[in-house]
Amino acid sequence: MFDYDTISWNDGRVLLIDQTRLPNDLVALAISDYRAIVRAIQTMQVRGAPAIGLAAAFGVVLAVWRLDEVDRAGFIETANTAIDEIKKSRPTAKNTFWALEQMRRVLSKNLNLPLREVKQALLQEAQRLLNEDVERCKRIGRFGAELLPNRAFVLTHCNAGALATGGYGTALGVLRSARESGKKVQVYACETRPLLQGARLTAFELLEDEFDVTLITDSMAALVMREQKVNAVIVGADRIAANGDVANKIGTYSLAVLAHHHEIPFYVAAPSSTFDVDLPDGSAIPIEERNADEVRSFGQQLIAPADVQVYNPAFDVTPHRLISALITENGVLLPPFDRAIADKIKS
Ligand code: MRU
Repeated sequence: MFDYDTISWNDGRVLLIDQTRLPNDLVALAISDYRAIVRAIQTMQVRGAPAIGLAAAFGVVLAVWRLDEVDRAGFIETANTAIDEIKKSRPTAKNTFWALEQMRRVLSKNLNLPLREVKQALLQEAQRLLNEDVERCKRIGRFGAELLPNRAFVLTHCNAGALATGGYGTALGVLRSARESGKKVQVYACETRPLLQGARLTAFELLEDEFDVTLITDSMAALVMREQKVNAVIVGADRIAANGDVANKIGTYSLAVLAHHHEIPFYVAAPSSTFDVDLPDGSAIPIEERNADEVRSFGQQLIAPADVQVYNPAFDVTPHRLISALITENGVLLPPFDRAIADKIKS
């Protein structure tokens, strides 16, 4: 069984599974400085929208944990500086900003308490967000499982599993829940160039859980659909606009176009913390562009001329009209998404 804590708090330190080292090494980083949390997010030692949000929340706790409990002005300034710096770590996942807002709210609400108690209130909030995230994933899983046929052949992209969340996963949570409810589930995992989250993380996580999983390169998805090897596509999300447009790992948009062409349902599983109802559509979602060397190389190996130009957006936006349903902890949202989101998702 996949039974590892992606993120946890232990005696003044944040423990994170170092996802850059999977599947070869399963090791945890012990972090006691919020700046190291920022680096872990940027280098993708922790990644996946909900997991980044949780790391951000615990980062705020770390920022104040070792401060003396006398200098109130310095305490507040440090907490606010940490929140502002963590915000700049990666731009696309809404969960980061959402989690930091929750932490800022708890900070403001408790500011008059002794600083020792403010620290405890921040820690409790980060832990609450972690527990709540796992609960949300389980609810997403239960709602999503009902959409799948009894023999489900599911294509997924990137990693929207336990490794990308507090535990259980969003897209992979749906697969777990479907299997728990007695359905037979087979999975095709796209490798997810350039950083191979599908190959390194989803294949690892699903094999640990004894799923029937087959790894394909991203360019094989069209053929797999044409050969009728899959009857559903399920992915996660990094940010969802008010009209249902979805930003997710680069390559998601291509899969949605392919699924539409082959008349295969295309589902997006995400908690309400991923929704950005202030954005009318996906055009304003900030898309992270990452270092060119990620594309020029395969692992540590250079596979292109060292000076070739590269375009490396980490995410793309799938237009809402290509999406069959959004699976949230508040239920399955169907088109028209603008109405369903306004009804079910509170900012
Ligand atoms: O760049 P990453 O690995 O952080 O991208 C992750 C994804 O795109 C996931 O699909 C998304 O965050 C959802 S995770 C439940």
